[in-house]
Amino acid sequence: MKARKIREGIHWVGSVDWDRRLFDSLIPLPDGTSYNAYLIRGSEKTALLDTVDPRMTDVLMFQLETVPQIDYVVAHHAEQDHSGTIPQVLEKYENAKVLTTPKGKGMLIDLLRIPEERFITVDDGETLSLGGRTLEFIHAPWVHWPETMVTYLQEDHILFTCDFFGSHLATTDLYVTDEARVYEAAKRFYAEIMMPFRKIIQKNLEKIGGRAIDLIAPSHGPIYDRPAFIMDAYRDWVSEESKNVVVLPYISMHGSTEKMVEYLVSALAERGVTVHQFNLAVTDIGKLAITLVDAATIVIGTPTVHVGPHPNVFYAAYLANALRPKLKFASIIGSYGWSSKAIEQIAGLIRNLKVEILDPVLCKGFPRETDFRALDNLAATIAEKHGEHKLVN
Ligand code: FEO
Repeated sequence: MKARKIREGIHWVGSVDWDRRLFDSLIPLPDGTSYNAYLIRGSEKTALLDTVDPRMTDVLMFQLETVPQIDYVVAHHAEQDHSGTIPQVLEKYENAKVLTTPKGKGMLIDLLRIPEERFITVDDGETLSLGGRTLEFIHAPWVHWPETMVTYLQEDHILFTCDFFGSHLATTDLYVTDEARVYEAAKRFYAEIMMPFRKIIQKNLEKIGGRAIDLIAPSHGPIYDRPAFIMDAYRDWVSEESKNVVVLPYISMHGSTEKMVEYLVSALAERGVTVHQFNLAVTDIGKLAITLVDAATIVIGTPTVHVGPHPNVFYAAYLANALRPKLKFASIIGSYGWSSKAIEQIAGLIRNLKVEILDPVLCKGFPRETDFRALDNLAATIAEKHGEHKLVN
C-alpha cells in the first residue's frame, strides 16, 4: 500500500496485515489488522507519528524513500506493533528525535535499546510547532499500557490515538465505510485490550473531550471521520450501565452439564433475558470477551475433572477475571461424578469481579427433576435481579 493523503501535508503511511490471526500469541484476529503511522509536514519540521510492526518494516521504509527529512518520531505507545520500526527510522534520519512520555522513554530503551540521546520527553499538554501546524501531546495512561499518550493536531482538528479507539481490521478503506462492521471490531478490541482499564478510560475520555475533533486517527483500523460514532460507543462501554444479558461459557464432557445449560438458557429466555451461550471447546474467545462488555451476569458451566473445573473453564474464568468486565452477578452450574470443589475453585478465580454470587447448581451425574427446579429458581433470581436494576436488553 502506498502512502495515502488525508489533508495537504498529512498522510497515512503504514501497512495492512491481512494475514495476521493472533496477537500477543493470545488474541484472535479474525479480520487481520493494520499498523497505521502518520506523516505530518509543517512549513519547518516533519513528524512521523508511530511506526509499524517489525514484520512490516520494509513496507514503511519503502513509503519513506521519497521523504527527505523527518525531525521527530512521536511514539504514543511503546508496544512493538507501533514502535518496532523506530530503530530503522532513526538509522535513516540521523537527526530525528523520538518524542514520548517519560515512561515511554524508559520502556523504549528497555524494549528496543534506543540510545538515550535520541529522546525528547514531552509533558502532558505540551505543544510543539512544526511550522503552521501544532502538535499537542496529551498523556492518556493505560490505553492500554502506563506510558500511552495521544496527539491532537490543533489546526487540523485531528486526534491521533494509537491503540485508543482502534480496531483490528484489515481494509483498504482509509475511513470507516461500514460502521456496523467497525463497531464489532472496535468492541472486540476494547474488550480484549482496554476493558481492564475501564475506569481510567472514563477519565481519558473526559480529558480529550471539549476539543473540536474532525477525525480520530487510530493506529489500528480505519480512521473515524464521524468521531462521535466511536466516542459514543466508548462512553457506553465504559459506563456503569450493564444490560439484561447473561454470558454462559461452559464445557460438557458427557452431556450432563450441557443438559443443564440448555435448560437454564431456555428458562432465562422465557423470562426475557438475553443469553449468549459459548461452548468453550469450539468458541472464539474474542466473541466471549465482546459479550462480557455489556453483560450483567455470568453463569459458568463446568463438569468436574479431578475435583476441579474443566481446564477450559479454568482458562475462561481466569480471562474474565483479568478483563474486569462490569458484571454484577455470577453463578456456577455443572455436574460431578463423586466429589467436586469446582465451585470453590471458580469463585477463587474471579475475585476481581465485584459480583454478587447467586446460588450455584451442581448435580451428581445427569440432572434430576430437583436439579431442573433449582435451575428454574436460578433463572427466576437472575431475571428478578436484572429487573431490580432496570436493565434493558
Ligand atoms: Fe497496538 Fe498495544 O499495541
